[in-house]
Amino acid sequence: MPAGVRCLFTGNPRALAAIVLPEMRCYPPTMGAVTPVKLDVNGLFEHVCGERGLARAEVDAVAPHVRTVVENLATRRASGELPFYELPYDEESISALCGLAGELQEGFGRLVVLGIGGSALGTKAVLDAIPAPYRQAGGIEVLVLDNIDPATVAPVLDPSLLGRTVFNVISKSGGTAETLAQFLTVREHLRRCVGETWRNHLVVTTDARRGPLRALVEQEGLRSVDVPDGVGGRFSVLSAVGLLPLATAGIDIGRLCAGARAADAYCRRSNPWLNPAALHAALLYLAQRDHGRNIHVLMPYSDGLLRLAEWYGQLWGESLGKRYGAGGELLETGQTPVRALGATDQHSQVQLYMEGPHDKVITFIRVENHREDFEIPPSEDSPDEFAYLEGHTLGRLLNTEQTATELALAQAGRPSSTFVIEEIDEAALGQLFHILEVQTLVTGGLLGVNPLDQPGVEAGKALTRALAGKDGSEAEAARAEAWLKRKRGDLVIG
Ligand code: PA5
Repeated sequence: MPAGVRCLFTGNPRALAAIVLPEMRCYPPTMGAVTPVKLDVNGLFEHVCGERGLARAEVDAVAPHVRTVVENLATRRASGELPFYELPYDEESISALCGLAGELQEGFGRLVVLGIGGSALGTKAVLDAIPAPYRQAGGIEVLVLDNIDPATVAPVLDPSLLGRTVFNVISKSGGTAETLAQFLTVREHLRRCVGETWRNHLVVTTDARRGPLRALVEQEGLRSVDVPDGVGGRFSVLSAVGLLPLATAGIDIGRLCAGARAADAYCRRSNPWLNPAALHAALLYLAQRDHGRNIHVLMPYSDGLLRLAEWYGQLWGESLGKRYGAGGELLETGQTPVRALGATDQHSQVQLYMEGPHDKVITFIRVENHREDFEIPPSEDSPDEFAYLEGHTLGRLLNTEQTATELALAQAGRPSSTFVIEEIDEAALGQLFHILEVQTLVTGGLLGVNPLDQPGVEAGKALTRALAGKDGSEAEAARAEAWLKRKRGDLVIG
């Protein structure tokens, strides 16, 4: 094993310092009851993955830029420009959302989120990571419709369930076609099923003042909660967007926010070597800028965390994939996020990661203690080849596979980093949300883009509205139709 390949904090910093460069580790101090998420970045460096890895000097060269970006973020935060940072501190809202969740639990047996993108992905990530047996008592079933595929929508409309279902319509803008279409479809089915009491089956989460959904709330007198001003979809999981459905499902949102606050304590530091979000941002930025690594793979070794990788895919892709820099200069930048799953993708994508183009950097998420585990029993009368598995547990084998993949990648000159969490719980997820959000903002600052806008997504939304016949979009619809006419029949095969 290359020196230092696993140099995580062992509880004895001096012992660790003796093994590796002390600055090469990045870990937070202990944080009361919150077990810290660790980030192991050794695998990105040349001492582990050879000459294709990063050199310490590269990081030193970019460190002043990183500090400036982190300090700028702090200034913008202090001026109220980045309100997502304050979400986990808003105890009044958190407690009000818990109260409303309690009412919904009393009144209904099922909550269905109608929303898409940032209005859905964070909730899905937590629900998948913390299944029902590990939630608080009283939680009800929560489903998230993140699409308008009729095949997915159909079971939600089952008339035998509608009477006990509450729908949480979530849209920051209040004008997203998919969400409005979900809502209109649901309302019609609700009307048929429960008549004029359909209003009691809705809670709307949207901007406090603007947008078509807010207008609907006013018009129909619907129950609503606000998406705080200035909090965009992909940074909103710890606002009412995520917290209301999660609390209703029995997720401990207090612990989720405690995790985010704990991470905030160490993601504020301007010294990148002491700030995992800033350090990871700097390393991924260097990997892209100077080493042609245009793809970032997030690969949890846990089925329950695959949705987290999906949430991250939106965060990283939508925030950093930008044509223009913040000053209007043409950049066409951004790392493509890819989600993979260990150990499953070891028998699939990993071949490409090992031997394909040197255009990827891989980040693992490793879970030290799996909530449930199973000892692999003695092989007894099985062939000898089975014997080495005896005495392992499935969880330990999964982690051994993660180490093996990390090592194999390193030996093939492929860089990787690893988030290590003790176990999957709300506090760990809260930390990961916060670290990854700040990492995205810092990377945006390094790239010189605005990570908070999404002009490409908005262009697609506008064209959808135009093609679907929205009043006022006639000129756009005509341009779109003209473009569609350029398609040639002889190039459509079949
Ligand atoms: O991150 C974003 O801003 C987007 O992905 C939005 O979350 C998504 O487009 C849905 O938008 P809205 O919440 O306005 O319906």
